[in-house]
Amino acid sequence: MNILVVDDEKFNLRMAQELIKENIIDSQVFLCSSPENVMQKLEEHNIDIVLLDIIMPNINGIDILKSIRSQKKYKDIQIIMFTGITDKESFKLCFENGANDYINKPINFTEFIARMKASAKARKNLLSLIEMNDTITQQYQKLQAITQELKDTQFNLIQKEKLASLGEIAAGIAHEINNPIGFISSNLDTMNRYSQKIRNMIISYRKFVQLAAEKTITREQLMQEKDVIDDMDRKQKIDFVLDDLNTILLESTEGTDRVTKIVQSLQTLAKTGTENEMTYNDLNQIVEECLLIVKNETQCVAEIDKQIEGQLYLLCNKGQIGQVILNILLNAIYAVKSLHLSLLGKITVKTYASKDYVVCQISDTGSGIKEEHLSRIFDPFFTTKDVGNGVGLGLSVAYDIIKKHGGEFYVASEVAKGTSFTIKLPANGSDSYYAK
Ligand SMILES: Nc1ncnc2c1ncn2[C@@H]1O[C@H](COP(=O)(O)OP(=O)(O)OP(=O)(O)O)[C@@H](O)[C@H]1O
Ligand SMILES: [Mg+2]
Repeated sequence: MNILVVDDEKFNLRMAQELIKENIIDSQVFLCSSPENVMQKLEEHNIDIVLLDIIMPNINGIDILKSIRSQKKYKDIQIIMFTGITDKESFKLCFENGANDYINKPINFTEFIARMKASAKARKNLLSLIEMNDTITQQYQKLQAITQELKDTQFNLIQKEKLASLGEIAAGIAHEINNPIGFISSNLDTMNRYSQKIRNMIISYRKFVQLAAEKTITREQLMQEKDVIDDMDRKQKIDFVLDDLNTILLESTEGTDRVTKIVQSLQTLAKTGTENEMTYNDLNQIVEECLLIVKNETQCVAEIDKQIEGQLYLLCNKGQIGQVILNILLNAIYAVKSLHLSLLGKITVKTYASKDYVVCQISDTGSGIKEEHLSRIFDPFFTTKDVGNGVGLGLSVAYDIIKKHGGEFYVASEVAKGTSFTIKLPANGSDSYYAK
């Protein structure tokens, strides 16, 4: 402990020095009889305690006290006023300006030692507090780094889960896309043949027009030529070709529309979801897109009872909400499929607005959830599915997303009867409405 004693009287300095050395363990005493040098001594010796005389020639101890305290780095050192003054006003002034204690002069040994010891103890406590604070700050920083790492891990898990969902439904999506692509391609073949026929007809008509313009040709020859063309028209079934052309063009346009929709839905879902991109979206449109993605999975498993109407706007991250609905739908399909029934099950998808919220409820007639599992289904990696069928992240990721949106997530289930998931999301100022 470094202690600086400031006094213009050498006798007091020596006396203080001796008493401190004898009674304060591990102390080093620095003496200062010229008050002008106090700041320099503080700087040089990393002082813990200052014993400061008040009345000195040229300079007042209270002024020195003020200059010490005016520097931030000295705000915590112990300053004890060392004085023969007894008037209350001076003491008040000392304490107001940051003195920690005072010791009377002439020195009373017992009082001096007791106060110095108390001051040394206070300083020690403060130093260990500062050390503790540094350790806590360091640990807090470490904790922040770990939290960030956890967030990154969670993000990677979300990405993995998304890929898993996409993997699970990839075959269905491929089928959904292959089907229209198949008939569009066969329509293109037909159109190719039709265009050849039409081209041949046009060549014949042009030839006829040219003949008709020649002065040497007789009307009889012209009529013969016309018969040839009419015959060709009939054989090539040009009327049918023209009608059919319309039909297959319409059909092909419908096919490309379907592919475009599926691709758009996938794009919605594939959005990373970390962009925190909050926009106003129609919940019903998100539901429609998800239903389109799982369309192939539901066929032969469950009939979809869609109870959605109009538009229900809410402020949300579209990709993330799409992921939640898709996860619930995939679970519902699995639950119905796992019953291996010969009849179709039923999945009811219902949306509605309620006060400042929009709600989506997805119910199934599947296996249901055992009571002891109900409290665990939102835990990461909780799954009752066989290896390869589920990793147990779907609902945990969905739960996080709903909470992040300020929403609520409910589940009700009865074994062998079915399960119903409800998500309630704040519309966040959007004029969500239920147009009938
Ligand atoms: N509709 C449902 N019917 C019956 N059980 C369900 C239903 N939804 C969820 N569960 C139960 O909750 C568990 C956890 O669901 P979650 O979606 O988190 O994971 P998972 O479907 O098992 O795997 P993942 O979604 O990661 O592929 C499921 O394994 C299942 O036991
Ligand atoms: Mg799941």
